[in-house]
Amino acid sequence: MKKILLITALVSTVLFAQSEARHLDRMKNMQEMEVAMATIQKGFLFNNVNVVKNGVKDLKRTASFTDSFIKPGISKKTGVNTLLYAKNQTESITMLANEILVAFEKGDQYAAANGYLMVLSKCLSCHKTVRSW
Ligand code: HEC
Repeated sequence: MKKILLITALVSTVLFAQSEARHLDRMKNMQEMEVAMATIQKGFLFNNVNVVKNGVKDLKRTASFTDSFIKPGISKKTGVNTLLYAKNQTESITMLANEILVAFEKGDQYAAANGYLMVLSKCLSCHKTVRSW
């Protein structure tokens, strides 16, 4: 009996530690995504295609971590398939990121800035959704 209790305690500690780590990773990934967006903007303002390229690369990398888009407990509470939603967001952010670079390389800065704004709207709409769920 004591053994079982001990094991239960151990398992829940490990699980708790894991969800904590994931939570921190999410915040870290989100912060890196913010830096990627700032890099892209810097590239626009300094008219430097390599800086835009780096920002786009970082944005695509960070946006690919679907896990960081999911706030634990939300699916259970609302029945919303957050994984599917997160995957869709990853896909559209990746597509827009590619469009930003293509437009900027073509010298169409307005189209590039427009793509940037569309990514930003994705960030904001998920944050709004996540927080009001
Ligand atoms: C599909 C959902 C989703 C998308 C898309 C998304 N985020 Fe987040 N973001 C989250 C969640 C979940 C949190 C944590 C919110 C909370 O716990 O209240 C968060 C938090 C953040 C934070 C705050 C981190 C902190 O330390 O407080 C920043 C900055 C951030 N996101 C940047 C971005 C940027 C930049 C984008 C777009 C490129 C983006 N996010 C797109 C879900 C998303």
